[in-house]
Amino acid sequence: MDIKYNLKPVSERRTQAFIPEGNLGFGSLRTDHMFMMDYSEGEWRDPRIVPYGPFEMAPGAMSLHYGQSIFEGAKAFMHEDGEIYTFRLDKNAERMNRSADIVCIPNLPEEMQLAAINALIDVDRLWFPQQDGACLYIRPFIFATEDRLSVSPSQKYTFCVIMSPSGAYYATGVNNAIRLLISKKFHRAVAGGTGASKAAGNYAASLRAGKAAAEYGAAQVLYLDASNTQIEEVGAMNHFHVLKDGTVIIPSFTDTILQSITSKSILELGHLLGCEVRQETVMLDKFIADIESGEIIEAGGFGTAAVVSAVGSYIFEDGRIVTVGDGKVGPFTQRIYKLYTDLQKGNSPAPEGWVKQVPRLAK
Ligand SMILES: Cc1ncc(COP(=O)(O)O)c(C=O)c1O
Repeated sequence: MDIKYNLKPVSERRTQAFIPEGNLGFGSLRTDHMFMMDYSEGEWRDPRIVPYGPFEMAPGAMSLHYGQSIFEGAKAFMHEDGEIYTFRLDKNAERMNRSADIVCIPNLPEEMQLAAINALIDVDRLWFPQQDGACLYIRPFIFATEDRLSVSPSQKYTFCVIMSPSGAYYATGVNNAIRLLISKKFHRAVAGGTGASKAAGNYAASLRAGKAAAEYGAAQVLYLDASNTQIEEVGAMNHFHVLKDGTVIIPSFTDTILQSITSKSILELGHLLGCEVRQETVMLDKFIADIESGEIIEAGGFGTAAVVSAVGSYIFEDGRIVTVGDGKVGPFTQRIYKLYTDLQKGNSPAPEGWVKQVPRLAK
């Protein structure tokens, strides 16, 4: 892929390493540039890196009306050698195309997505925040741009990548357990729907439920299947629980659950964690009974943002509260977090192909 570089003049670009004051938080900063590429007449064309800035788009662009828009979320880390490394980025590229299939967006070959992201990181590498636990958060997305008001798949799209230098999600490790609202009123996805994709509309649909969760003092919603009998996932993370023998259980992937790259990775890392990690259908009634009997000792969520979030308690819409163990962060959750962040930061060797250095190409 022959990327055109239309960079900001050097006088307007970051020219020194980024040393932030205080924790950066997540997602608010941007780097100097973004990657763009368009799709029309059956082809992806015009790959380019341009200054970060507003798009020009027709008011009739179909993504604005019918929500044909998908995205990914990944992180890159700086290792001790001062180089930037992506973490399982190929899995994000693969999932982008799975999402694309679900909302009838043309696939973008994985190698093009990877080349685009690597080139953008390379150009803006000075934006990597020099701070313990920080990362470059990478947000690739594709949206429909055709100016047409009939409901059908758009014939034109834009692929864009933006980046946000972000701080450590946990400044001092996982030491805070959250509460989840188990909702029988709100549902995220139904069989045959778009739940297994990172389609923008799935997140719009979760906002109302998120508001309800806050009214119950809960951080997020734990969604059930449409029959309110099985546990599915949380708004922006997969769910897991730990049995008293140390087995970690993640609900089986169905077409109503996003296949989390963090979950998939933990499934492959059981041997390093010294426990079994498996997927199965998780029935709500048994799950609650097992927490109450002490069979389940820890629970939480897996996702790129936090890696692991500990869940200390669940609340139902009738006000009933169920506390997991002593309601605090448990040792398995801590161990998973340490192992995973050590692999990401290059402190311990990751499985072959998980961690890839961003090549230095830009002038
Ligand atoms: C609905 C949903 N489930 C799960 C996840 C976790 O996925 P990953 O581990 O790939 O970040 C996310 C975040 O991307 C999400 O939005």
